[in-house]
Amino acid sequence: MKKDFLSILDITKTELDEIISGAERLKRQKRAGVPHELLRGMSLAMIFEKSSTRTHISFEVGMHELGGHALFLNAKDLQIGRGEEIRDTARVASRYVSAVMIRAYRHSTVEELAENATIPVINGLSDREHPCQILADILTIREHFGDIRDLSVAWVGDGNNVCNSLVLSSALTGMAVTVASPKGYEVAPELIEKARSLGGKVTTAKTPEAAAKDAHVIVTDTWISMGDEAEREKRLAAFHGFTVNDQLLRHAAPDVRVLHCLPAHRGEEITGDVLDGPQSLVWDEAENRLHAQKALLVKLLKK
Ligand code: CP
Ligand code: NVA
Repeated sequence: MKKDFLSILDITKTELDEIISGAERLKRQKRAGVPHELLRGMSLAMIFEKSSTRTHISFEVGMHELGGHALFLNAKDLQIGRGEEIRDTARVASRYVSAVMIRAYRHSTVEELAENATIPVINGLSDREHPCQILADILTIREHFGDIRDLSVAWVGDGNNVCNSLVLSSALTGMAVTVASPKGYEVAPELIEKARSLGGKVTTAKTPEAAAKDAHVIVTDTWISMGDEAEREKRLAAFHGFTVNDQLLRHAAPDVRVLHCLPAHRGEEITGDVLDGPQSLVWDEAENRLHAQKALLVKLLKK
């Protein structure tokens, strides 16, 4: 049976643990120059409906380092760009490659691809979730803090795709997640309920300061995700006061660390002082996309 990774909840606690430990091992092997061509001869199709720097580079380099091959496919250049059905693309791709990673506007596109493919499908970001990002975030938090179970994580900003995956991940990691978003940009209550029903510790806070209180990790992301550009002015006004800055960090635990999936907008959701400062783990976080996704690919593909 093929296994997809469309949501962070498509894996169990044990599988998450195996992926994070695998990522740590692959990272050490890369640093030591130890070859780890675990997916020799395999191919990954990477379909992008939207822009990408980290997801594109890390999946492509990751497949190369695992001894396999990755194909960058801009959706506009594929026949899907001219109306070929996703289900037909799924069937055909399944005859050529070992797995597909897709970054799509609509989560339903990712689901349709997965339903019709006989090979694993990985969500490289949709409007609902960005589970690969959260794998890298968990790896980064574990590297820094060691035992993560009793940590508190604050999300300050848009209740978007990255936030959704973080909230759901509470059910797997045991970390408490508190979300502060402006009115109208909150995480869907059903999603919070889902995380809670599976044992996740998720709460909401009225202000960024309340969310940040005693937090070990503060996470934020752009106020204007890909596809939201037309709402730029409205969003800038709504998110006023939600910038992650030095004052906000003072409410957190003394050793607080800051994550941001990138791309960042200095002066909007985060100040340059914080992003480039000593409490920022964002560059390790970006690097960890590579190691976490290599471990994910091995988990999904290695027989
Ligand atoms: N964080 C992230 O997914 O970055 P890209 O959009 O550059 O892939
Ligand atoms: N929330 C952002 C994440 C980018 C990696 C977006 O969807 O554009």
